Amino acid sequence: MGASLPELLRRPAVLWSTLAVALAAAVVTVLLVVPGADDGPADGNGDYLDASLPIDERVEDLLGRMTIEEKVGQMTQVTVGAVEGSPSDVAEYGIGSLLNGGSEALFATAEEWAAMIDGYQAEAMETRLGIPLMYGIDAVHGNTAIPGAVVFPHNIGLGAAHDADLAGRAAEVTAAETRAAGIHWTFAPCVCVARDSRWGRTYESYGEDPGLAIEYAGPVVAGYQGEDLTANTSVLATAKHYVADGGTAYGTSTTEDYQLDQGVTTMSEEELRAIHLAPFQAAVDAGVGSVMASFSSTDLGEGPLKVHADEYLITDVLKGELGFDGIVVSDWQAVDQVSADYAEAVRASINAGIDMVMVPFEYQGFTSTLLSEVASGEVGEDRIDDAVSRILGQKFALGLFEQPYADTAGAAAIGSDEHRDVAREAAAASQTLLRNDGDLLPLTGTENLYVAGSGADSIGRQTGGWTASWQGSLNPPTQGTTILAGIQEAAPNAAVTFSEDASEPLAGADVGIVVVAEDPYAEGVGDAGAGEHDMAVSEDDAAAIHTVCAAVDCVVLVVSGRPIEIEAHLDGVDALVAAWLPGSEGAGVADPLFGATPYDGRLPVSWPRLIADEPLNVGDADYDPLFAYGFGLQAA
Ligand code: GLC
Repeated sequence: MGASLPELLRRPAVLWSTLAVALAAAVVTVLLVVPGADDGPADGNGDYLDASLPIDERVEDLLGRMTIEEKVGQMTQVTVGAVEGSPSDVAEYGIGSLLNGGSEALFATAEEWAAMIDGYQAEAMETRLGIPLMYGIDAVHGNTAIPGAVVFPHNIGLGAAHDADLAGRAAEVTAAETRAAGIHWTFAPCVCVARDSRWGRTYESYGEDPGLAIEYAGPVVAGYQGEDLTANTSVLATAKHYVADGGTAYGTSTTEDYQLDQGVTTMSEEELRAIHLAPFQAAVDAGVGSVMASFSSTDLGEGPLKVHADEYLITDVLKGELGFDGIVVSDWQAVDQVSADYAEAVRASINAGIDMVMVPFEYQGFTSTLLSEVASGEVGEDRIDDAVSRILGQKFALGLFEQPYADTAGAAAIGSDEHRDVAREAAAASQTLLRNDGDLLPLTGTENLYVAGSGADSIGRQTGGWTASWQGSLNPPTQGTTILAGIQEAAPNAAVTFSEDASEPLAGADVGIVVVAEDPYAEGVGDAGAGEHDMAVSEDDAAAIHTVCAAVDCVVLVVSGRPIEIEAHLDGVDALVAAWLPGSEGAGVADPLFGATPYDGRLPVSWPRLIADEPLNVGDADYDPLFAYGFGLQAA
């Protein structure tokens, strides 16, 4: 009888050969059962391409197949202009997302947009694992990158309308007109709480009261994302900018020529939670798929810290306490602001919880830097896997693995009457009546009218920033009706004289309508005192008010992204309306003016007597506004 097994295993040669066979068998098993980085694409049976599987299982399968290079590529977001000359880089670097910076690509039709995006998508689909890319854009008040798309009032006007459902419907229309162009992701809503109206982004806020942003966040996120993110009428939404971007102090910006934007918010953590964090809880509860970090810094008592590098706020609070399971995306080149040492900036931002970096230009440098940080152990693979899982999760939710290319079936509805009616309703509801001496308003439509002011015949001023370009412009390609056209449409039998500078004779006019306006701006460029945007009535508009209102009964309409200094110009003004930035449907401004709809808007921000009174917020001890937060006269 030969040696027993135990006796055999005591013999070294037999022992080692047995172990070797067992180890080989184990390795083969692992390779066969657990997909690894060197596995090729799946076949759709029980793997990440199997749409019948739950998303988290598809993510786990795909993640297990990815190399570290592929993972880092997914965390990279690039502006489309940076790959225009080298589209193959989308595949070479495995880029996870492209975006349209505020002034990048612009096409006339949804089909042209879709063709451009699909071109880059084809590159992404050529990659080893065929991971589709996401394309993002700032469709923050309509998909204004398409001239025929509907442009809604900016958020401050929607806040004045105090109608969260209406804001949700506006988001729904915007989502449909965005996804129809093959765009998957909008960087909206801004749930910022503007506490100092000198901020150039005040108009992107629903107002100074966090209660507005809390009330609006849910319906607006639902409007953008719909019931099903795979639908050709849904886009991924972004709650931004996390956190307290609207609470920065004047003069604290470290960005050249800016005053407040990207500055420092100094307050207790309790105040920050109550004012600036609460809207994000509402957005997370509504299932928002992404959150954009803020350029700004917070100082909760231990000195300023860039939010992009704040692990406590991003990972512990947003992801941990609030339970956010979507993508935290950086702002535009904001990671670079974290440190002069780029490797340190990348390390700190990714370790803080940033999942996708809006580089947006030097993607080669970003990917190589992050790969080095992972190789050196400064950034753990578990952090990378968390980030990539979040990104892949949203891509699966968007249905991009099943339908990576555009579905432009909804293009026919872009700019439709039905969509424009929603924008007109929103513009009308946002109108806020601040004075109405002698019940001048509403007009009857039979008066002979004299219209003046820089905002009367200017689609650019009434749409404001983030319209077809980053800063907006006086002559955007946007289709719509000016306020003047709206007035003419509302009073077809009246004699309407238009003279922007009121140089035409006033004889025969019964009522004057002077539309004063701010020129468009965005971000810190609009910070009061930063440049030409000073929250004052221009000289020409002031002269027009004086000329017209000295001669006839008059109403002044203020087209602006925030309160402006107006008290000194109100002598002889019978009626005053805050028109905000009403968007493409100027007819909506005329509706309450002629009684087609009631005036029912209420101030979402306090209106100061002097700009120097800012920051001015309801609840302040020495609160003495020209018009108080929540004020608005009714007239129908
Ligand atoms: C900008 C803005 C942000 C926008 C992003 C992409 O700097 O801060 O709101 O979504 O860049 O354009």
